[in-house]
Amino acid sequence: MTRITITRPDDWHLHLRDGAMLKGVLPESARHFGRAIIMPNLVPPVVTGDQAAAYRDRILAALPEGMAFDPLMTLYLTEGTDAEDVARAHASGLVKAVKLYPAGATTNSHGGVRDLDRVTGVLERMAEIGLPLCVHGEVTTHDVDIFDREAVFIDTVLDPLRRRIPGLRVVMEHITTEEGVAYARAGDETLGATITTHHLILNRNHILVGGIKPHYYCLPVAKREKHRLALRAAATSGEGRFFLGTDSAPHVDALKEHACGCAGCFTATNTMQLLAHVFEEEGALPHLEAFTSLNGPRFYGLPPNAGTLTLYKGETAVWPAKILTEAGPVTVFDPGFPVQWHVEG
Ligand code: DOR
Ligand code: ZN
Repeated sequence: MTRITITRPDDWHLHLRDGAMLKGVLPESARHFGRAIIMPNLVPPVVTGDQAAAYRDRILAALPEGMAFDPLMTLYLTEGTDAEDVARAHASGLVKAVKLYPAGATTNSHGGVRDLDRVTGVLERMAEIGLPLCVHGEVTTHDVDIFDREAVFIDTVLDPLRRRIPGLRVVMEHITTEEGVAYARAGDETLGATITTHHLILNRNHILVGGIKPHYYCLPVAKREKHRLALRAAATSGEGRFFLGTDSAPHVDALKEHACGCAGCFTATNTMQLLAHVFEEEGALPHLEAFTSLNGPRFYGLPPNAGTLTLYKGETAVWPAKILTEAGPVTVFDPGFPVQWHVEG
């Protein structure tokens, strides 16, 4: 197969930031994706329905003329979140999910949740109204090794939470382990899991062998090869539980190439080309559409996009090494191997 047309894809986990960065990176997503779940970890975070509405307006204002893109907004869960405000923002159609960041887990998560018991009221309300909770699934306790944080979170936080509030719809965001894959598979229809492009390509050696690669550092950090293989099998399986969430997370180069570098891989520009490569390698191109365009909408109760996207195989693909935003240059994810897939148009 050297050409494939799929329903226009969506990105079920995306960081667009704000201001000059937003303006610079938004076209990179809008070029290929119809919609995206927009992460709320701005500074300060998007906590209320009013803040989400204002952020959505800023995104639409930054969209270049002639591009179509529907930002699906989320709220950042805090211990002060008002269940009524969440329910109103959902009922109006504005907000499609609430994001749980365990405090301290990642970029701008210090305002996140320390004690889940303090948000039980909000979570119970979300279960009643069918509003999904997107979960950054890592424990943050210092005695847990960074490579074990996802598996420990599943056992000690996620599973008890889902038993306590059985109707709650949960997305396990950016899973990185075979334990994450297994837990997602074992769940019922209230459970979904997103997988990033870069976690299908990287294992932890890629970050560390032959010199540290700051542009491969993200959270959750890439794990051993066996985990990457489990993620590949899940993403390319066609199973409805798994869908694309790129977690494309722009940081300017000065903050990535730094003594204390920020976490995030920027994959908005070349995700579809990279996924075509990965799915072809796995002999699974017929399942690409399920992963990028069908499973996510089904989980979120939305129709698939109306348009299509065509990928074709040709010469070795080239894309910009960096996106030059007015906030500074952002390095585009380099998979480290040649890719022959292109997006038509
Ligand atoms: O690598 C990451 N970058 N992981 C996250 O969870 C957050 C994100 C960001 O906002 O930069
Ligand atoms: Zn993220």
